[in-house]
Amino acid sequence: MSKAANKKLYIKTWGCQMNSYDSGRMADILSPFGYKCVDSPVDADMVILNTCHIREKATDKVFSDLGRIKPHKKAMEDQGKKMLIAVAGCVAQAEGDFILERAPYVDMVFGPQTYHELPEMMAKVTGAYGENRIVNTEFPAESKFDSLPEEHLSQGPSAFLSIQEGCDKFCTFCVVPYTRGSEFSRSVSEIIDEAKKLVDGGAKEITLLGQNVNAFHGEGPDGHTWGLGQLIEKTSEINGLERIRYTTSHPRDMDDELIDVHGRIDKLMPFLHLPVQSGSDRILEAMNRKHTGDHYRDIIAKLRKARPDLALSSDFIVGFPGETDEDFEDTLQLVRDIGFASAYSFKYSARPGTPAANMQGLIRDDVASERLSRLQALINEQQLDFNRKTAGLTLPVLFDRKGKKPGQILGQSPWNQSVYVQGNERLLGQIINVEITEGFDNSLTGSIETTIAA
Ligand code: 5AD
Ligand code: SF4
Repeated sequence: MSKAANKKLYIKTWGCQMNSYDSGRMADILSPFGYKCVDSPVDADMVILNTCHIREKATDKVFSDLGRIKPHKKAMEDQGKKMLIAVAGCVAQAEGDFILERAPYVDMVFGPQTYHELPEMMAKVTGAYGENRIVNTEFPAESKFDSLPEEHLSQGPSAFLSIQEGCDKFCTFCVVPYTRGSEFSRSVSEIIDEAKKLVDGGAKEITLLGQNVNAFHGEGPDGHTWGLGQLIEKTSEINGLERIRYTTSHPRDMDDELIDVHGRIDKLMPFLHLPVQSGSDRILEAMNRKHTGDHYRDIIAKLRKARPDLALSSDFIVGFPGETDEDFEDTLQLVRDIGFASAYSFKYSARPGTPAANMQGLIRDDVASERLSRLQALINEQQLDFNRKTAGLTLPVLFDRKGKKPGQILGQSPWNQSVYVQGNERLLGQIINVEITEGFDNSLTGSIETTIAA
């Protein structure tokens, strides 16, 4: 591919933080070829839709976006220019050829494991419109992590680092084991190297990412396999790095070592996203989660013993096939027992190719909707309560963005709450003590000493 300068790259990202990370890496790979990110597909030389397949209507959304982009491609062609259109991510992995068939103006379809081959793929599709189109949904032997460019390492104060990918858990509702493939962990030295570069590039906080991040089992510098607890301990030794987080975890992989580092490593933030999906043992079994509600309660009790100020978040699915009113009550009870600082909840949607898609006992949509609102009302209540309780505390906040109002900056508390204050932009990138004045549904407000804020 030629290294002509000033090409426009538009990437639209759906879904999880892994996808955001992947989009960033695709931009890094294309940057030496002169591609700069823009925030509109109009006039773009390359458009990448980095898609998510986890919940319903994913494919429809991709096609409706493609439909909106098509006229822009046509407009470029009328001016004698070319727009490459690529569909990447998990919908690409799952739908492959079907996308090329239904959208003849799409040039490339490639899955999450092959984006390091992007320059080669782009070189191949430089033929005339409609020719040399590519579908690449392989799981190549060479890992994409081995060929990422070095110079991608300025993500700002709060950075993401992918350490693990794929999942071997096969929850019966989930497409991830099929779209992202089986578990793969990067080596500890590779991760620490990347973490140091992120810190050199200004990161104060790193979130270690993986579809099932606490199943991490990477090769350590001693030749042994290291777990996530060991990796966090090693990462915490990096000078200049102040905060560590990790997401997303599975309760079955919450081992004692990992629980222990929550108590010992101050840099590990007191906030954990640990999806439970349901509080009913019957449904958990049908979901193939391989744990019960009480297992989850026990893990949380151990974690809170290690780190009493730990705040928790989770994912829930309501309306899984066969879910009765009693099953749903068990979920509400679990939420009451644990007390969450935040949580995501979803109506079950059948994903083609997953075991649950063939299960009997479908739940009527109005029943599922009603359960979803009840669950969300309870979670919102807990979240507001949690946020309100932080009023009056002084919390270290990592400022990383400007707020919408003039003079306002925005950062994250240790418990992952968004905190708005009046303050000078030069505070962006710093961790500053903030006196929290008020807690709301989704955010906090606070003030910093006027001498610092100015
Ligand atoms: N239906 C509804 N929610 C789902 N999730 C995953 N698959 C499905 C599905 N088929 C939710 C789970 C998971 C989160 C990322 O998305 O709660 O933890
Ligand atoms: Fe999907 Fe998470 Fe279950 Fe893996 S552990 S199958 S990613 S829900």
